[in-house]
Amino acid sequence: MRREIIRTADGSTTIHLPDWDESYHSKHGAIQEAYHVFIKNGLSLFEEKPVAILEIGFGTGLNAFITYLESQKNNRSIIYTGVEAYPISLDELRSMNYVNELDAEAESAAFDKLHESEWGMRAELSPTFSIEKRKQFFHDIDDVSEFDLIYFDAFGFRVQPELWSFEIFQKMYAALKPGGILVTYAARGAIKRNMLEAGFTVEKLAGPPGKREMFRASKPL
Ligand SMILES: C[S@@+](CC[C@H](N)C(=O)[O-])C[C@H]1O[C@@H](n2cnc3c(N)ncnc32)[C@H](O)[C@@H]1O
Repeated sequence: MRREIIRTADGSTTIHLPDWDESYHSKHGAIQEAYHVFIKNGLSLFEEKPVAILEIGFGTGLNAFITYLESQKNNRSIIYTGVEAYPISLDELRSMNYVNELDAEAESAAFDKLHESEWGMRAELSPTFSIEKRKQFFHDIDDVSEFDLIYFDAFGFRVQPELWSFEIFQKMYAALKPGGILVTYAARGAIKRNMLEAGFTVEKLAGPPGKREMFRASKPL
């Protein structure tokens, strides 16, 4: 499928799929969306202990990189796993401006390492942050009680409704530890029904700039 690089409203880049009119991040601001949905409404709920995170759709690595920056800032231990079936190319990666836009020049080696790390192998970016990128389809995920937090960042329901199904949320539920949470930018009734059917408790929260609402789903203790 054709992919092109675009600039979003906060100045940060993303990848746009013209055939689907769908982007990897919100056009209203890729970095702003990532911080609001995944850090503010996800990671920041966990206090001191190490946090095991599963990302659904590693894509450009933006979510992984800002999570790495948080781990450095707060000396927080993070074990990160990013699942992705269609890794982007090095050329596309070099066109992303996240290091500059995040004023993270001192961490540019970590951004490179995030992408150069081998698929299927765990790599340590720092004493507090490790990552494994898995080249895998979401339907093949079969982890059980492994993760504290899921960043659910698939393409939208409009273009890939099969990724927001009861079957997928059942897998997400199984992959979380009791008390674990899943955050996503989406807030559609059909999605909430599938989450509830899988056993989650679902909250509607204020969305990032340009989106009214988003969901946070919790697995009971
Ligand atoms: C919205 S983008 C993820 C953006 C990413 N979190 C980031 O920060 O750049 C969705 C991702 O899901 C991947 N994807 C789409 N269908 C998939 C599937 N069935 N299994 C695994 N990955 C898939 C796409 O290649 C894309 O990278």
